[in-house]
Formats: sequence, structure tokens, C-alpha cells
Amino acid sequence: MSIFPLSIPAQVKIVEVGPRDGLQNEATPVNANDKIALIEKLTDAGIKYIESGSFVSPKWVPQMATSTEVFEKLNRVKEVTYAALTPNMRGFEAAMAVNANEVAIFGAASESFSQKNINCSIEESLARFTPIITAAKNANVKVRGYVSCVLGCPYEGDIPPEQVAKVAMKLYQMGCYEISLGDTIGVGTPANVTKMIQAVSTHVPMDKLAVHFHDTYGQALTNIYAALQMGITTVDSAIAGLGGCPYAQGASGNVATEDVVYMLNGLGIKTSINFNQLLEAGWFISEKLGKAPISKVSNAYLAKKLADKNS
Ligand code: HMG
Ligand code: MG
Repeated sequence: MSIFPLSIPAQVKIVEVGPRDGLQNEATPVNANDKIALIEKLTDAGIKYIESGSFVSPKWVPQMATSTEVFEKLNRVKEVTYAALTPNMRGFEAAMAVNANEVAIFGAASESFSQKNINCSIEESLARFTPIITAAKNANVKVRGYVSCVLGCPYEGDIPPEQVAKVAMKLYQMGCYEISLGDTIGVGTPANVTKMIQAVSTHVPMDKLAVHFHDTYGQALTNIYAALQMGITTVDSAIAGLGGCPYAQGASGNVATEDVVYMLNGLGIKTSINFNQLLEAGWFISEKLGKAPISKVSNAYLAKKLADKNS
């Protein structure tokens, strides 16, 4: 008999967002070659889906200005999806010009956040996404949809689950194959995670949902565990806990991939990931940024490695 009171999935897919969601908010500039080296190390570690850049205004997010170079020079592995974030047709065309394997569009459950992040209302953003979805369909390219602020907004506070469900449902009906639910400011706890996923899953099938949790209040792993128990099998995370969101002040990084994989390994949940190589990728980018990883697991292994070396 399982030791777990509720079922958990046998396998989980990790969507690595560090090179995009992570690096878009790091103050220390990372050049294209180092971004490429990071993406290749993540690929070597066995990650099968890597959001590798975004085609947004460089005035809004200067850290992503090298995305064309990154996609052009990247040594790709056939089994890996190298995805890009695209806010409008111009971004989509730029992503297609460098053969991004997939694109992601990003809406929000909060009007104020939508205005601050992409300079338009939720309704206007959906209208902007429509031609992207049509063009992607014609080009045989899959589109992932994000909903930000699913558990709270930096400007509006609490967000009702029904509001999240409405936007998620629209993106799904428009043709997104998966909807990633973003706790952009990391305020959620298992109680409201459960309510929100319940509300969304009455409109979008559970196997078409992913969770995208930031760790601002230290709740991300607990929240992921709650989501896994509800049937979620796709988890977004960022190597070394990189990032935050430029339009969500105080939002710390995404949950660290190292922390998520450590937990999944402990639960006996399969991933395709080599844990030691994953740690190496995190240490590589942390060194480039001149800071320690925001991952307790990574720092614990680093301390152990240094102690072993000195003994
Ligand atoms: P806008 O000012 O409303 O639009 O920006 P615009 O059409 O007037 O364009 C403004 C300028 O951007 C113009 O340049 C355009 O040419 C240029 P200018 O004439 O001033 O020199 N421009 C572009 N440049 C490059 N690529 C493009 C592009 N489009 C226009 N595709 C826009 C609208 C959406 C462009 C802008 O608001 C923007 O780029 N926002 C980026 C927001 C962003 O990247 N946020 C972070 C990602 S979202 C996130 O992290 C949350 C997520 O992780 C989930 C979660 O955590 O919850 C997904
Ligand atoms: Mg994010």
C-alpha cells in the first residue's frame, strides 16, 4: 500500500524557465554565450523543455535582447523543446525566424498586472494573441499559455479563483495546448492553490494545466506538492531559483529546479533529469551572476562538495 494518503503522479515533466523567466530579472548582465552554455548544460542534465528566451521589447526587458543570438547559436538536441515567449505578432515572427520549437503567450488574471506587464487590458491581450495562435497553427507550432497572478496581484491583492478560471479557459479555447498557472508574486499557500486549481480544472482538463510558482514567501514546494496531489504533472521551475518578474516588485525567483527535482526524487517520481549535472548547471550560472544559488538543496550540496574536497 502506498504510504501517501493521496495519489501523486508516477512521472512529472519539468518546464525549465531559468534562461527566460530567471535571467529576465537578474541585474547582472549575462551574455549570449553564457546563456547558451547554461541552456546546453540544462540539456545535458536531461531537461526536455527549456524556455530559452523571449521576443519582447528590449526597452521593457533589456536582459532578453540577445534572444535571437541565443537561438541562432544554440547546439540543439532533437528531443528537447527550445521555447520562446512572444507577446505579439512581431515577437512571434522573430521567434519563427530563429526556429523556436514552441512559443508561449502570456496573459494575466489581474487587469492592473496586465497593464503594467504588457501595456494592455486582459481583453486586448487576448485579441493580440489571436493572430499568434492562427499563425502558429499554420506553421505547425504549439502555443503554451500563461496566466499570471493566479494567487494574488502586487497591485490588486487577492484574485478570485473564478477570474483565473475565466482567463485560463479563454486561452485554452483559443488553442493553447497547455495553461501554466503563475503565482507571480509567490503568495499562495496550499489552501488557495487547491481552490484555484479546482476552479480552473472545471474548465480546462487537469492534464492540460501546469503550475508556475515563485518562492517569495517560501511556499513553492509545499504548493507544488498540493498541486501534484490534485493531478498536476507539469511543473515550471528555474535553475538556481533565478529571477522574479520585472513588473512584480518584491517577487523573488521561481522555485529552484534543484529543489523541485530533489523533492520529486524523494517521492519516487520519475523525471528525465540527472541530478548531479543539474547542480553543475546551477553552480555555473550562479558563478556568472556572482551570487549563491537561491536553492537550499543546491547550497547544501555545494557545502558538502567543498567539505569533501578539503577533508
Ligand atoms: P507597447 O509599448 O504597448 O507596444 O508594448 P508598442 O507596439 O507601442 O511597442 C513599443 C516599443 O516596443 C516599440 O519600439 C516597438 O517597436 C517595440 P519603439 O518604437 O519605442 O522603439 N516592440 C518590440 N520590440 C521587440 N520585440 C517585440 C516588440 N513589440 C513591440 N515583440 C509590449 C507592448 C508587449 C511589446 C511590451 O509591453 C513588452 O515587451 N512587454 C514585455 C513584458 C515582459 O516580457 N514581461 C516579463 C514576462 S511575463 C512573466 O515573467 C510572467 C510569467 O513568467 C508567468 C508568471 O510568473 O506568472 C510568464
Ligand atoms: Mg514567472
